[in-house]
Amino acid sequence: MADRMISDVLTKPEPALEQKLRPAAFADFTGQAKVKERLEIGVAAARQRGEAIDHILLSGPPGLGKTTIANIIAKAMGSNLKTTSGPTIEKAGDLAGLLTNLEEGDVLFIDEIHRLQKTIEEYLYPAMEDFKLDIIIDQGPNARTVQLNLPRFTLIGATTRSGLLTAPLLTRFGIKERLDYYDSAQLQTIILRAAGLLKVEIDTQGAFEIARRSRGTPRIAGNLLRRVRDYAQVRSDGRITAELADKSLAILEIDSDGLDEMDKRILEAVIGKFSGGPVGLNSLAVAVGEEADTLEEVYEPYLIMEGYLSRTAQGRIATERSYRKLGLKMAGGKQAGLL
Ligand SMILES: Nc1ncnc2c1ncn2[C@@H]1O[C@H](COP(=O)(O)OP(=O)(O)OP(=O)(O)O)[C@@H](O)[C@H]1O
Ligand SMILES: [Mg+2]
Repeated sequence: MADRMISDVLTKPEPALEQKLRPAAFADFTGQAKVKERLEIGVAAARQRGEAIDHILLSGPPGLGKTTIANIIAKAMGSNLKTTSGPTIEKAGDLAGLLTNLEEGDVLFIDEIHRLQKTIEEYLYPAMEDFKLDIIIDQGPNARTVQLNLPRFTLIGATTRSGLLTAPLLTRFGIKERLDYYDSAQLQTIILRAAGLLKVEIDTQGAFEIARRSRGTPRIAGNLLRRVRDYAQVRSDGRITAELADKSLAILEIDSDGLDEMDKRILEAVIGKFSGGPVGLNSLAVAVGEEADTLEEVYEPYLIMEGYLSRTAQGRIATERSYRKLGLKMAGGKQAGLL
């Protein structure tokens, strides 16, 4: 039986629940220690100077906490947060409307900023750099450009695909931070905190079992916790132990190592189609039917962190762990080719 896609459990829960579980301050935010420290310093310094913090770009795979951090920063700055996303800004006028409604010190959060149209992006450059917006009024012979002064605001952009951002946009972010996958101990802490908020009874081993099967991702951890909670309630006494979590996750067809279908397809391709590698990113992308950027930014980092793949100058190579995962033996001594 095929394992269920982890991405099935990457769906965002309803807003009210999301709001309840989302840490509201740096102190409640587990993991990403270096990112957190740099941002805390940035916030404190800006506050001391009575200024808005620099524009910030947050990148990293889905569900790792980009939106959460944007919220935390706005709150820590004591600022209003206005939220929008790349694909919803369809016309230059939409952007002008957003920008001209900002007040001094406000935070404008643009999610999926890599999906912003290039023509609209160009209006952002002077807005970010000089806090000015050129708008064209009237049409035909009367058309003229008017320059508006904008309040000193902070743009926080979030993206899962920083590789798709143009150089001029990238350089206008004074602070760029990339979020990385969480280890099982950090996810365990996040699960125990969420369980407390949801009033779910869980022991530390139960939390660990869910944590290590969450593909390094807090959103998946939270979603799995709620599914295991249902199972515990219906099939048991409501208490989540390691054994119960394991039974429940088996029913949900969650892979025992937390890999999803695409992860496994990638490993199968490297080993089956490319003799274990090395294989270049583009060839691998074609073989698994996924975009190269997505492979590189969303899937590969986790597989490398977990030791399934290694990256060399020649390309990606399957490690012994990949062979074991697929129930194969790595041919003696040599990495590739002999299978
Ligand atoms: N460090 C953390 N500690 C506790 N909970 C976290 C942490 N990071 C994320 N979460 C939880 O995980 C969920 C996903 O986080 P968030 O929405 O911020 O991710 P994201 O990076 O914006 O994802 P996407 O790219 O899909 O928009 C949220 O419910 C949040 O409460
Ligand atoms: Mg988000």
